[in-house]
Amino acid sequence: MKQSPIISPSLLSANFAQLANEAAEVIDAGAQWLHVDVMDNHFVPNLTMGPIVCEALRRSGITVPLDVHLMVTNPENLIDAFAKAGASIISIHAEVTPHLDKYVQHIRDVGCKAGLALNPSTPLHHIPYLLEKLDMVLIMSVNPGFSGQRFIPAVFDKIRHVREMIDHSGLPIRLCVDGGITVDNMASVSRAGADTFVAGSAVFNAQNKQTAVKQLIASVDGCS
Ligand code: DX5
Ligand code: ZN
Repeated sequence: MKQSPIISPSLLSANFAQLANEAAEVIDAGAQWLHVDVMDNHFVPNLTMGPIVCEALRRSGITVPLDVHLMVTNPENLIDAFAKAGASIISIHAEVTPHLDKYVQHIRDVGCKAGLALNPSTPLHHIPYLLEKLDMVLIMSVNPGFSGQRFIPAVFDKIRHVREMIDHSGLPIRLCVDGGITVDNMASVSRAGADTFVAGSAVFNAQNKQTAVKQLIASVDGCS
């Protein structure tokens, strides 16, 4: 069953010199989570933020769940540090390790919710064996590395398949879609089965960030 809809604006598109202010602005408009894209210039060709940024957000008074998306090789080296820095959900990529079960369990052991992230072309065969330990499946709808890319339409089928897997399990697992989400495709992504929506450029590059968040929320509510 779908969980209640959540918008998780991706801070990757925010103005880093104004991070806490921009975060507060989107939360004020109704965003329930903040999405933190961690890139290592190894798994993906970009370099972004580490635990220190989560810690700074917490220290600035941000209390909403921090949804940390680890696009890194060796995610196991960062789990404890992100948990300590205030992460709430930590997602690791299926492509980076043969030890998914171990690391997903570790995320829960340090008190965070565990997510499994999959690139657009990554098959779903790991999911049935991990469902009991997962709080979220994160389907990438662009190739990870940058914000502002176009949504890949082939991912719609994948979202439907994951929705079936989650529903079949009866577990309260979130289905998150990340990449290229806009007000125009939000309703279709929601109809395909997503309940958790990451949006970077659609929020932070909008003329009015608060209106953008509200429009995204309205598009999902209209069809769930
Ligand atoms: C891509 C990141 C996404 C990205 C989303 O590697 O994981 O979270 O920042 O940005 P938009 O919504 O602009 O595609
Ligand atoms: Zn992301």
